[in-house]
Amino acid sequence: DKGEFKHYMLKEIYEQPDAVARTLDMALESTETAHSYQLRDDFLQRHETQLSNIRHVQVIACGTSYHAGLVAKYWFENLIRIPCSVEVASEFRYRNPVVVDNSLVICISQSGETADTLSALREIQKHSPTGLVSLALCNVPTSSLVRETDIFLPTLAGPEIGVASTKAFTTQLAALMLLVLKTGVTQSCIDDERLYTLLENLHKLPNQLHASLNLDASIKAMSESFEDKKSCLFLGRGLQFPIALEGALKLKEISYIHAEGYAAGELKHGPLALVDKDMPIVVLAPKDSMFDKLKANMQEVHARHGELFVFASEESKMVAEDRLHVVYIPDVCETLAPIVYSVPVQLLSYHVAVMRGTDVDQPRNLAKSVTVE
Ligand code: F6R
Repeated sequence: DKGEFKHYMLKEIYEQPDAVARTLDMALESTETAHSYQLRDDFLQRHETQLSNIRHVQVIACGTSYHAGLVAKYWFENLIRIPCSVEVASEFRYRNPVVVDNSLVICISQSGETADTLSALREIQKHSPTGLVSLALCNVPTSSLVRETDIFLPTLAGPEIGVASTKAFTTQLAALMLLVLKTGVTQSCIDDERLYTLLENLHKLPNQLHASLNLDASIKAMSESFEDKKSCLFLGRGLQFPIALEGALKLKEISYIHAEGYAAGELKHGPLALVDKDMPIVVLAPKDSMFDKLKANMQEVHARHGELFVFASEESKMVAEDRLHVVYIPDVCETLAPIVYSVPVQLLSYHVAVMRGTDVDQPRNLAKSVTVE
């Protein structure tokens, strides 16, 4: 039931604060101690021995779930220094890849029935590397993927009906962060200060998602500039690069506008040639450690008369000017910003698609669950 919403996709976008809160509740509890929040003792408790032995992480997934994996790579490596590779399942399964000993293989899938993801998992299991641990990050407890893996980490998004993944994605990110923290604690490779700050910030996340939903009207206004565009670029750096990829995927799949996500540092290596006055460029620009570099990239685009649509934090003090539009996103800590910045790119794609009159919940040629390769 869509309730008051015109589409399932919009309903599911709006469900994100609750869906993320539910997912976080699996692992987060408040305390009476100096630290306000801690990881619950029972979170993945049965799997502590398995997690304590892993030395490498291999993520396998498709589409939006693959983008969640790309964010997790930054988290695993930056926060707990465990090397992490991420690959689309359709490539991984056919190239005879090396899976090193003591790997944690994380299969991310909303449905748990994606043919390529399942086959990639089976391919690894066939070679049974020493110390292999497999984990399903999945929204469907009864799925094939959950049955075939050692550990089940659920996303508590609830059923997702719209073909374009929204709440499944943000709950995947929330659960991946919990997994990184749990692994860090189990292996004593995360310092307390960092852990407790992140737990506190995680607790604030549902409210920040709420606040970003409140920007819907200004994002809708922004979307009007996209109605008759042919092509669009999404730019981000660091943790926002996967969100740029995700924004481009969302826009192309529901509005049928060609879109590409790029690491902003790659602009000069090709895509800058595309930029002219008809090219909208969406930029994910929180005030983080990469902001100054990103600003230089935006100036390069502006100098070539590209039209910039920037999601920025208020702290960044970016000011709108000719061919530069800004929507301010509530301040959020750098590590968790990709979760909050997912919302404006979802809303933008949604409004562009509605304006263009496409079938938002059932885009042409696509299926919700891709059970054939
Ligand atoms: C895009 C989208 C797809 C899925 C992909 C994987 O919005 O929904 O790209 O993410 O087909 O599906 P799951 O996560 O079910 O394996």
